[in-house]
Amino acid sequence: MKTILALETSCDETAVAILRGRDDHSGPELLASEVASQIAEHEKYGGIVPEIASRNHLLYAPRLLNRTAKASKIDLSDIDTFAATSGPGLASSLMVGASIAKGLAIGFGKPYLAINHLEGHLLSPFFSGANGEAGIRPNVSLIVSGGHTMLVRVHALCDYQVIGRTVDDAAGEAFDKVAKMLGLAYPGGPEIEKLARDGDPNRFNLPRSMLGSENFSFSGLKTAVRYLLPKIRVIPNESEGSRNRSVDQRGPMRDQSSCERSFAFAQDDKLLIDLCASFQQAIIDVLVTKTIAAAQKYDVDLMTVSGGVSCNQELRRQLHEACSRNGFEFKNAEPSLCTDNAAMIAFAALLRLQAGFESQVTEEIDPNLVLA
Ligand code: KG4
Ligand code: ZN
Repeated sequence: MKTILALETSCDETAVAILRGRDDHSGPELLASEVASQIAEHEKYGGIVPEIASRNHLLYAPRLLNRTAKASKIDLSDIDTFAATSGPGLASSLMVGASIAKGLAIGFGKPYLAINHLEGHLLSPFFSGANGEAGIRPNVSLIVSGGHTMLVRVHALCDYQVIGRTVDDAAGEAFDKVAKMLGLAYPGGPEIEKLARDGDPNRFNLPRSMLGSENFSFSGLKTAVRYLLPKIRVIPNESEGSRNRSVDQRGPMRDQSSCERSFAFAQDDKLLIDLCASFQQAIIDVLVTKTIAAAQKYDVDLMTVSGGVSCNQELRRQLHEACSRNGFEFKNAEPSLCTDNAAMIAFAALLRLQAGFESQVTEEIDPNLVLA
């Protein structure tokens, strides 16, 4: 019965989790999992500032270590293995979590495990499953987050083949950038999903790019929304940045330029919700079409989805439906395991440990770490 403590600090979320494997090969027991978000700290700069992120990791990580140890009634000396995300991500952020895990491993004389953030996402749909490593059945896996959009062929634990990835924006990045254009708060995905719920997904005809390829492209869709806005008399919020956060969270129709935007939205109260629904449906169509095509091509019977965008209920529903229609089993992770968290890192570490893996404490972080 191994107890793992994992840290996740790849970007702007500080997370710590303690997970215990069970001897009877049933799913592991999550003893504690804490996530500290830094959205508020970066907001005024309009994007993630790496130095602020790493300073905050240094501030939050010790607090979360105490909180998770207390909540799980575990003394850190009773932890069997310390794990941390070692990439991909921001170098100065990764370094904080990895250094703490290495320090604890050295201090308590326990093993250290370096975990790929993408493997954490990829394995998260199996979190509650039984049989550890053997439970990771061959599947086609869709990872959709703010930084990544990827199709991966999973043969077994640690045996992965990337079959497609985005050539420009990630799906979550497209949600965030379009939300920003519409004056919505960061992160944009949940904001757009909320508004899209009552909207008409067929009102605006937006592009579905590269449907014949296994790679993805979402920047054309984002540009199509930008060109559409003036035509429907909405002035886009022009500054975009990378993974931008909206500086003002009071929702659309606020600043000077938004007078006309609010005028257009006020004239047609369905405009905003229909636009959100049409945009969301364009993303979902692309994700569903390519994932089903890949599952058919590689002849698997299981399809999984993970990452922050997979919190989207409509995406989950449509993927599930398409899988049922085409005879594939479908697995997703519960929402708290979809956005960045340390429980998924602890789970990947537990499976790797059971499979005999261990890392050297001299192993460096790698901001560009690849999955395969
Ligand atoms: O996995 P994650 O927490 O971080 C990365 O590894 O990037 O994903 C964050 C992304 C953001 O872009 C956010 O807008 C998106 O996930 N997201 C959603 C939803 N919830 C989060 N996108 C669409 N619908 C949602 N409900
Ligand atoms: Zn992530």
